[in-house]
Amino acid sequence: MLLLNEMIIPFNYQYSNVLQLIQILAHSIFYFYFLWLTGSVILSYYFEFIRRDDAHTYFAKILLNLPLKNLYFPIVLGVIPFVVIYSVDLIWLVGEEFQSIHNLTLFTFIILILSIYFANSYKTTFELISVLQKTVGDKEDKDYLLLMNKNLSKHKKSALLSLLGLLITLYLFSILTTAKLDYIKGDFRVDFIANLFSLDSFVRYTYYLTIAFSLSFLGSLFFNFSWSETRLDLSEGLGEFIKQISLNGAIITILLQPLLILIELFLFPKNSLSYLLFLSSGFALILLFLILNQLNAFKKESNQFYIRYSFFLFIAVILSVSTRDISGIGNVLRPKTIEITQKFVTYEENLKAKLNIQTVSINPEDIFNAKCSACHRFDTKLVGPPYNIVLKKYENNRDQLVKFILNPVKVDPAYPPMPAQGLIPPEAEAVADYILKIYKENSK
Ligand code: HEC
Repeated sequence: MLLLNEMIIPFNYQYSNVLQLIQILAHSIFYFYFLWLTGSVILSYYFEFIRRDDAHTYFAKILLNLPLKNLYFPIVLGVIPFVVIYSVDLIWLVGEEFQSIHNLTLFTFIILILSIYFANSYKTTFELISVLQKTVGDKEDKDYLLLMNKNLSKHKKSALLSLLGLLITLYLFSILTTAKLDYIKGDFRVDFIANLFSLDSFVRYTYYLTIAFSLSFLGSLFFNFSWSETRLDLSEGLGEFIKQISLNGAIITILLQPLLILIELFLFPKNSLSYLLFLSSGFALILLFLILNQLNAFKKESNQFYIRYSFFLFIAVILSVSTRDISGIGNVLRPKTIEITQKFVTYEENLKAKLNIQTVSINPEDIFNAKCSACHRFDTKLVGPPYNIVLKKYENNRDQLVKFILNPVKVDPAYPPMPAQGLIPPEAEAVADYILKIYKENSK
């Protein structure tokens, strides 16, 4: 793994914004699809195996069918965004200390793929069973019974496995987010056991679950009652039943979310907070109230405009939530990002030196005049000590001097501490050489 870390090219700090933007988009798509699927599988399972009556079973089949209508959906909206998230993580979170995060992400990915596989088999066996029931006349026929039993057992097994798999994937995903937010400079460890039972992971998990249910109910409203291609044939008589459950379900689960968003705000670590984080949380809250308003209006007056509007507003909620999470993680990781950028600058300099490319040269005299001369002279004391005195100990120790300039430490009690000047390593090296050269000339 060390080799891998050596191979990854450090990136420039400016790219970290681009990476964050990609992360926000990939997370939004992934949250949207994955949570919709999870909510639908949980509800389907509940309606089919626990409620059991015909109406609920019919609804279960419809719910499951929507996110799995086409096998491209889970691949394009679930698997690919996850691969993007993982790849960006690999570029963004460089270093041994992040290895456990990458391993856990990979593990989550495997569980995700298995869950999708089982969810799809849950759906196809569901369809097969109802086709068999509808078309076969002789229900006592041996072949029919054999085929039916085989399918039923596969159906039950895949239902249970997809349910468990998706719930585990969701929990692992919550832990991963909590772990990334836990990053403390120089002391990064993912304590999975602690994270497994931490309040943060639990609240995050609960919040994701409510989103999952809302998405599933809102999706049912949108695709069954508004989207013309998938609109339900209401003459079947179950339309009103499905509409009522979906509407009430959506309202109840959305009502819970503002509270969870507020609790989460308190749980975000201090170093993750920023205007953007508060802004996106606030935005999500406003959107949720607008959606509740729309759903209420739909309750009074069945105009499909209201559900279309709610569905799209909810997608905006998911975008806000992703923005909140990613910007929080970005803030926590900022020290690390700066460290990586310094590596990048050194790397780039070395590369250019190797290739003999003339770069925009760093002028040490300019740096000295801009950054040092306000406090330092060679022969007299200003705010800082005169170089002719303090540079003696650095005469044969240039690296130590560079280190001091990059990261000043307290030396002489007679002086205040020197503030860091925010130089990048090549600048510090250049100015160090420059002042040592003049020092040597002075002492001749
Ligand atoms: C805001 C004022 C200020 C600026 C700007 C400043 N320094 Fe200093 N510098 C100080 C002070 C104060 C000390 C003494 C710190 C101490 O002894 O703890 C100091 C100490 C030093 C020392 C002696 C360290 C030692 O081991 O005794 C060196 C070398 C030095 N500065 C280099 C620089 C260089 C190079 C720059 C420009 C990149 C710079 N300083 C910019 C205030 C400043």
